[in-house]
Amino acid sequence: MICLAEISREELMRQKDFINKIFDLNARSGKKPLAFVETYGCAQNFSDSEKISGMLSDMGFDFCARRNDADLIIFNTCAVRENAEMRVYGNIGAVKTLKRRKPGLLLGVCGCMMQQNGVAEKIKKRYPYVDMVFGTHALYRFPEILSGAMEKRRVFDTENSDGAIAEDISCRRDKPPLAKIPVMYGCNNFCTYCIVPYVRGRERSRKIENILSEVKNVASEGYREVMLLGQNVNSYGNDLDCGTGFAELLSRVCRIDGIERVRFMTSHPKDISDELIEVMAREPKICKQLHLPVQCGSDRILAKMNRKYTKEKYLEIVRRVREKMPDIVLTTDIIVGFPGETNEDFAETLDILKKVRYDTIFSFIYSKRAGTPAAEMEDCLTEEEKHRNFDEMIKVQNEISKEINDKYLGRTEKVLVEGESKNDPAYMCGRTDGGKIVNFKGDKSLVGKMVSVCITKTQTWSLGGEIREV
Ligand code: 5AD
Ligand code: SF4
Repeated sequence: MICLAEISREELMRQKDFINKIFDLNARSGKKPLAFVETYGCAQNFSDSEKISGMLSDMGFDFCARRNDADLIIFNTCAVRENAEMRVYGNIGAVKTLKRRKPGLLLGVCGCMMQQNGVAEKIKKRYPYVDMVFGTHALYRFPEILSGAMEKRRVFDTENSDGAIAEDISCRRDKPPLAKIPVMYGCNNFCTYCIVPYVRGRERSRKIENILSEVKNVASEGYREVMLLGQNVNSYGNDLDCGTGFAELLSRVCRIDGIERVRFMTSHPKDISDELIEVMAREPKICKQLHLPVQCGSDRILAKMNRKYTKEKYLEIVRRVREKMPDIVLTTDIIVGFPGETNEDFAETLDILKKVRYDTIFSFIYSKRAGTPAAEMEDCLTEEEKHRNFDEMIKVQNEISKEINDKYLGRTEKVLVEGESKNDPAYMCGRTDGGKIVNFKGDKSLVGKMVSVCITKTQTWSLGGEIREV
């Protein structure tokens, strides 16, 4: 059994010294500098950004909502698909003009993309005004990196270190009442299309006591919902020798006072255990929502993707889950146009969508990632055919999502209020137990409260309603 280490106290204290040094410098300048952190990609990346912001706050920075106002800009990047990478390069390019106008402005680029072969080198050469580049493994060394940049050195720290976990890093959470809590990092699955195992390293679980103490802390700060994060939370604990698995971790999190809802993401279907389904069904605090990425409906393509289940096996898991939790909200990820996927394979994907009837899907056109096995595989459909299939799939799914949402009309749902609605500040928005977004008339005083909302309007992606009771 491997048990990976944590970053030592001494090293964390060394970083603390850099934090204090930068804090003193900022305090002496008499004005808090402004930081702008822009995040791409998944919940794990957003969680990392909360740590970067936490460290920045400890170093005496304030935050601004626009790049133009910033004294320090950080782009926390994603490497999962090419379009996210292109946006990053575009945005780094746009900062050049800002830097000309404000010579003291510092620019840092971090995250998954920086762990990819050749990316740091490219930035070093083509974007000489980037001051800091650091990868996912160097996150806890950010204070040291920033200190170097403030001394006018260009700092590049993209070493793929031993993958040890850094505990006790400050966190500036961006979205009360929901706290994102990583329970493990990395991934061992090596799906053939996916870059994650290469940029985030092997699976390593946090010790249960560290997770529970973080959950207790957020509960005491007033957070009412936690989202436990990992690339594959179902294998939580496999690398620890304490014998605690994810189902046990969930039950222990549920016992913490003040936490009313527990969610988790993501679950690999091959690792869904009966024990997990039992715990979900039994514990009222565990939200009845499961994100279960299927990726594709064709057995031939699933094998090429190295997903380790067949369509039938996946459908069997869905049956087991629904048998215990008939009203569960199911969501999934789908990739269209994996190398070698034919129109017959794609028809199997449409078939699984119709059979499972997911509430929502997150769908992507396959994006070639250098260094992954799929990048070497033969393709057969044209880009045009892939886009046609993609559009057809969205059409089929939108109908299913709308039909499912229509059943909510007239129901009263408990909604935990998260903030103002995106489109209209007179409306607030929150989520049901199943994770559906609900918009309703209200004001900011409701944020963090659990309210009853009668659903009066349904759309494909969200519900609308009227508040009944606070
Ligand atoms: N191309 C397209 N989508 C991808 N995903 C992961 N890698 C790729 C890729 N190379 C999708 C998967 C995964 C989600 C987070 O991103 O569907 O579940
Ligand atoms: Fe990527 Fe597969 Fe790991 Fe998910 S389980 S992060 S898709 S390798």
